[in-house]
Parts: sequence; C-alpha cells; structure tokens
Amino acid sequence: MPQKLKILFTASEVVPYAKTGGLADVAGALPKAMAALGHEVIVVMPRYYSIDRSKLEELPHPLGVPMGPLHTQWAGIWKDTLPGSDVPIYFIDYEAYFGRAGLYADENGYSYPDNDLRFTFLSKAAFELAKMLDFRPDIVHAHDWHTAPQPLLRDSRYLWEPRFADAATVLTIHNLQHQGIFDERIVDILECGWEHFTPFELESMGATNFLKAGIARADRITTVSPTYAKEIQTPEFGFGLEEHIRSHADRLRGILNGVDYSEWSPAADPFIPAHFDVDDLAGKALCKRELQRRFGLPERDDLPLIGFVGRFAEQKGIGLIAGAMEELLHSGAQFVFLGTGEKWAEGFFSDVAGRWGDRFACHIGYSNELAHWIEAGSDLFLMPSLFEPCGLNQIYSLRYGTLPIVRATGGLDDTIENYDPMSGAGTGFKFWEPSREALASTVRWAAETWRNAPAAIEAMRRRAMEARFDWERSAKEYETVYREAIAHRKEKA
Ligand code: ADP
Ligand code: GLC
Repeated sequence: MPQKLKILFTASEVVPYAKTGGLADVAGALPKAMAALGHEVIVVMPRYYSIDRSKLEELPHPLGVPMGPLHTQWAGIWKDTLPGSDVPIYFIDYEAYFGRAGLYADENGYSYPDNDLRFTFLSKAAFELAKMLDFRPDIVHAHDWHTAPQPLLRDSRYLWEPRFADAATVLTIHNLQHQGIFDERIVDILECGWEHFTPFELESMGATNFLKAGIARADRITTVSPTYAKEIQTPEFGFGLEEHIRSHADRLRGILNGVDYSEWSPAADPFIPAHFDVDDLAGKALCKRELQRRFGLPERDDLPLIGFVGRFAEQKGIGLIAGAMEELLHSGAQFVFLGTGEKWAEGFFSDVAGRWGDRFACHIGYSNELAHWIEAGSDLFLMPSLFEPCGLNQIYSLRYGTLPIVRATGGLDDTIENYDPMSGAGTGFKFWEPSREALASTVRWAAETWRNAPAAIEAMRRRAMEARFDWERSAKEYETVYREAIAHRKEKA
C-alpha cells in the first residue's frame, strides 16, 4: 500500500470560495490537513457565479464531460491553491449549470429543478479532470448527496478506466436530511446502467436517491461525529435510510470534524473589537460591551448574554426556541441572534426584537464578522439542534470561553461535557428531550449558574478554552479510513 496517498476530493462548497454551511469549512480545511500529513490531494468544486475568475488561473484546454443522451458538455477549468497551502483546487466552469446566484436554490429557497444534472455533471467532471491531469487517485472522496454518485460511477461508468483501477471510494455524510432525490431520468445521464436502479442502490420509491447509492457503493462511509454515526441507524435520525445504513454499518465510521484555529482564536481574531486568552479575559468583557452596543442592548455586565449563530432551519431547533421564547425572555438573560433561512423564523425573531429590544436583538443575514463578534462577546451560546451531525459553532464557542447550551445529540453530545454542580466539571449545559420545557429550563439553569456561581463558570470557561479539536487529529483518523477503504477495494477485486 503506498505511503503517500493520492486523493481526489470533490465538494459542492469550499471555504473561502463558496459556503452555505459547515461542509465548506470542512472541505476547505481537511485537504490541507491531509497534505500536511504528506498526502497529495486535489480538490474539485463548481465555479459558481460568485467566484471571481480574475483571481484564478485558467487551464488551456476545456474539459469534456460525458452526459449520456445530453452528449459531451465542455467546461472551462480554473485553478487556485487553497490559501495557506500548496493544495490545488480546480473550478468547473459551466455557465448553464453554475452561473447562478445560489448554490442549490434560488433566492426564495426553491431548489433548482436541474440539481440532478448540475451535480451529476460535477461528480463526473472530477473523474474527467483526473484523466486530463494524469492523476491516478488511490482515494475518491465524495461529500453529501451532491457528489454521492461518485462511488457508483467508479463502479460503473468508470469501471474499466485503467486510471481508476486501484481507486477506493469514501463517502462522507455531513447531513442525512438532504439525499438528492430525483426523477429517474438521471439514470441515463449518469450512464451507470439500469441494473443499479434497485432498492439496494439507486432506487427509492420509484425515484433516484444519490446518497443511497453512495452508501451502497462506497468502500468506507463516514459521518462527522461518532454519535451521529450511531444515530443515523435509528428511525429518529435516519430520514428513511436507517435500514439501508444498518445493512452497510460494517463500513461506517464516525470522525469528528476539526476546527481551523487560525481563523477561530480570540487572541488573534482580526474581526473582534478586543483580543483575549484564557489567562486574561479583560478583552472578552470589552467584546461583550461592544456587542451589546452594536445590537442596541443595554450595556449590562450583570446579565448573561446568550448568542445564536446558524441557519434558521428546523434542524437547528428554531421551532423549540420560538416555542420557548416567552420563558427565554423572562430568564434574566440578553439574547443576540444571527441567521437566515426559513421566512417564518426571520419574521418571528425580527418581531421579538422589535417588541423586546431591551433583551433580544437579531440580525437577519449572513455575516462572518458578526459571527466572530457573537462568539467573542457572548457568555453562553445556544445550539438546541434537533439533530447535529457535528456542528462547528459550539466548538468555536469553547475556544472563545462562551459556554454552549446544547441538546445532547450528534456532535454536540460528543464535544460538550455537561456541567456537574457537585464536582464543578463540564464545559457547557446539556438537555436531552427535544421539548420547549427542557430547552427553557436548561437556559434558566445556565443563566442562574452564570449569575450565582461565578467560580464554577470561570473553571468551566478555562476548561472550554483549553480544549482542542485540531484538524490534525481528524486527518489521522481519515488516513486510517482511507487505508481501510483501499484494503476493502483490494478484497473485492
Ligand atoms: P451547518 O453546516 O449545519 O450549517 P455547522 O455548525 O457545521 O452547521 O456550520 C455552520 C457554519 O456556518 C459555521 O461556520 C457558522 O459560523 C456559519 N454560519 C451559519 N450561519 C451564519 C450566518 N448567518 N452568518 C455567518 N456565519 C454563519
Ligand atoms: C453539516 C451538518 C453540521 C456539520 C457540517 C460539517 O452541514 O449540519 O452538523 O458540522 O455539515 O460537517
């Protein structure tokens, strides 16, 4: 088995080029961490309209991507290196598929009707690019439904391609809720052969399901936390695929995401009003005051300030928060919310801010700067997700000494240790039941602890700030999984 692995890594979003969520953070960081371990990685993503071509290098030849009955479609290819590394990233430029404002949906939140074509195109373009670059991958690493057809393509359309003869496949599931379910017309365009359109692979109640096919075919399947790897085998978290996943569980692993501490560290964060670290928290008090001022909240240092940053999606527990709002507003805390997403939630939180401006403030929108401000200036961080494959914000919060209040699910459960008033242990506050009562009483518990037990809060804060979730550790686990995938492929051959 080669010491140095060649990895073809394809994702639909990558920081700093395009991002709607944590997938982009992972796709921007993991390839660099793999390269730091000595492996050769190339990253492939679409050239969305928002990505400025003037900063990229254009490859001299266009790339032909076979699309079955739609014939070969020709894309431009642009290149860059991931910032702070030598890892090349290639952008697939095909105006008709990617020249739009949104990544997956229009401004009203409606998914593009040709997402099946768009991401079949991306999945295949990566294989074609490897051919063009004379790259012979040991690992083809796909992420979420967008590139989940790759393991199947490897075993069908590209089966006889000598270049991919040794390539093993890995599929990482960042979120099982979105599976890529489409009309069966895509089978011909995938060119995988109708023999794969069965309930064991691509077919799901008469439709095609990209993620299902990826799970069936990948040599290794990973999820982004160990707990989520267990949860998705149950009806509560399986989104209908739990049985399918259980039948492939021998190939499933859970690897916790890392975080990029070069971006998220309070001692060197270029966005925040003052710097601080675990031994000197004066800057944190200043960040709190500035945050209150910016959001028009009373500048009180005797009240706990609770932050929220995230997509306004059911997954994130916004329904629970809305249901508990009355109790939260009377918990003796202040709140700062940042997010966009479901229209009802945007309206609801704006409305609460309008009526209760002395204790609840929100910004509807996407702002990396404000996300940093909230992580730095809040005392507590609210993340009551119904499910959370990993979650990054709670890990950023730890680093900034902003103690998370979380529901004990997925990566939230794996990264946060519950406060124990007897021993003083813990890094945050957890609840289990997905109910408004459980959420409200846990927020009250956290707010009261903050007010009445400052020494316990200080000890937790120190523990939180000293905890580390480095990419290097995760990358080593991926390395093990890659080697397992290669061994599995050899057994099959
Ligand atoms: P998910 O991928 O499910 O959205 P994660 O916690 O893994 O959840 O990652 C979310 C990422 O997106 C974090 O980096 C977070 O800071 C960022 N983010 C989410 N919403 C916003 C927003 N409104 N403004 C700025 N950053 C945001
Ligand atoms: C998904 C999940 C989130 C995870 C992220 C990166 O979007 O919702 O929990 O942190 O992917 O893996």
